[in-house]
Amino acid sequence: MGKIPEHILNEIQDRCDIVEVISSYIPLKPAGRNFKTNCPFHHEKTPSFIVSPDKQIYHCFGCNSGGNVFNFIKEYEKMDFIEAVKMLAKKTGVKLPEYKRENTDSDSIIGIIHSINDIAANYYSNTLEKSGDSSSARRYIEKRGLEKDIVKKFRIGYADSSWRSLSEYLSKRGINIDAVLKAGLIQKGKDASHYDLFRDRLIFPICDVRGRVLGFGARVLDDSLPKYINSPETMVYKKGHHLYSLNFAKTFIREKGFAIITEGYLDVISCHQYGITNAISSLGTALTQEQIRALKRYTHNVVMVYDADQAGQMATLRGLEMLLEEGMNVKVATLDKGHDPDSYIRKFGPRCFGDLIKKSKGLFVYKLAILREKFPESDSEAMAEIAKEMLVTISKVRNAVIKAGYIKELAQELGVKEEAIWDELKKTKRNVKAPGSMLQAQGVVRKIDIPPAEKILVKLMIEDAGVVNTVKDNLQPFDFKNPDIRHLVETLFGMDTKDSFIDAGKLINYLEGRVAPHVISFIVNEDIMIKDKERNVSDCIKVIKKNQRDSRLKDIQNRLVVAQKNGYEDEARGLLEEFNKLIKGGV
Ligand code: UTP
Ligand code: MN
Repeated sequence: MGKIPEHILNEIQDRCDIVEVISSYIPLKPAGRNFKTNCPFHHEKTPSFIVSPDKQIYHCFGCNSGGNVFNFIKEYEKMDFIEAVKMLAKKTGVKLPEYKRENTDSDSIIGIIHSINDIAANYYSNTLEKSGDSSSARRYIEKRGLEKDIVKKFRIGYADSSWRSLSEYLSKRGINIDAVLKAGLIQKGKDASHYDLFRDRLIFPICDVRGRVLGFGARVLDDSLPKYINSPETMVYKKGHHLYSLNFAKTFIREKGFAIITEGYLDVISCHQYGITNAISSLGTALTQEQIRALKRYTHNVVMVYDADQAGQMATLRGLEMLLEEGMNVKVATLDKGHDPDSYIRKFGPRCFGDLIKKSKGLFVYKLAILREKFPESDSEAMAEIAKEMLVTISKVRNAVIKAGYIKELAQELGVKEEAIWDELKKTKRNVKAPGSMLQAQGVVRKIDIPPAEKILVKLMIEDAGVVNTVKDNLQPFDFKNPDIRHLVETLFGMDTKDSFIDAGKLINYLEGRVAPHVISFIVNEDIMIKDKERNVSDCIKVIKKNQRDSRLKDIQNRLVVAQKNGYEDEARGLLEEFNKLIKGGV
């Protein structure tokens, strides 16, 4: 599918008014500078759907759907984005470019990005090779127990600590700097300069099923944060679209008849080193539809082995439902507390890990155990909660026979009649697919979790380019907790802000889906009273710095507990040192 150039999107937007477009579908009432109405995307009695003519953006503060005029048409008409653009282009008389040409152009760029990535992977791998046995990278690899062969197979490399070594290496080979930028390997600095994205980190190339390098993950050699930096989204690398190591695992997945899904780079690499060759990784994100569809070509059977912590459990539950929705058979293996597959295999060996996989539980047993812990009482309210939660999952099972089996089991477990559970299941279904709910399921609310200081600061940055410079001098993108905000800040830092303010409706076009449109509309569409802007900016910066420091402290504390429990004395000592340094006001 061809991509529509940003300037065309902007032109269409210039020629139509979001208020006019939306009011041709639903009546809008004036409210101050904005317009209000009941949200068409979820059921509500008091209006929380706001349209801003100044910003050319809509946002519903009830269900958090939002974006610019294209996003509205897309959601309301249930079209894909291109169709929505085509419709508005026709209305406004803007000519769209021929797609064929676009395609061939972008095809060749994609080829170029693949080869730049390949050259970079070799470069990083050579850097590691050349660094002596006692280099920090080689010592780290040794410490993690990674053998030579596996380092080679996964093309693990090292990016040295210089700011320009990769970019210089590539330009010496005559590679166009813009293409390197498109590959996401370097970043724009101040003025016209560029710098390498990955520095003093271990490099893990991320490949597609055919083994072409799409992007990279890069791990620090110590315990500093962020632990990993990954390639930004590029024309070939889309977050949550790829499964790490599927290129190696695919034939074994077919052979063994199932896939093992883990969370991290090192989980998979350890698995493969120890002969568990049907392991892949979702790379930290909750499993996505794209990932599951990529896997489906090889198997319908999955065992999830995520980290034995709260985050891992949450990710497992979410992944379970995604897999069920895609018609996969899922089981879950649970590790001892504090372990991930990597640490488990290294401590207990691949045999024990294999046993654990054999003993993996079905979704029913797994989720029920979690719910029993969450609602330990045996009164009817607890039962109702358990039933409700279980039914959300059971309703996603496609096979009717299996579903009926689960219903029976649940009724027995809760000591109620089967019919009662069937009745409740019907209610669940109605909630999921309410008649008349246009696009989003009734009652489905998008969660936006942004710390207030981050939200205010980014809002001020969008409204005043001067603020962008102040923030640039004081914070780094990774100081921001929310990943969407981090992307947004990165973009704002790199933008050529000749204009004094940034047009929010067009910012969405500029970002091309790198940040969800409803996040941007959420940030800009709320009126916040600002009395003293400078003061506000510096307060927000302070709060963000403090939060960053606090979460680092917390992270160190958590790891300290694990290290002490396991008797890793060296590590514990290092952590304590780091902790004290932070406490004393170091950064
Ligand atoms: P983990 O924190 O469990 O890391 O994150 P890990 O893979 O086990 O690495 P080690 O064993 O501590 O060295 C799981 C995955 O989440 C993603 C990475 O893909 C990682 O492998 N992640 C994690 C990030 O992308 N960024 C981060 O800062 C942390
Ligand atoms: Mn881990």
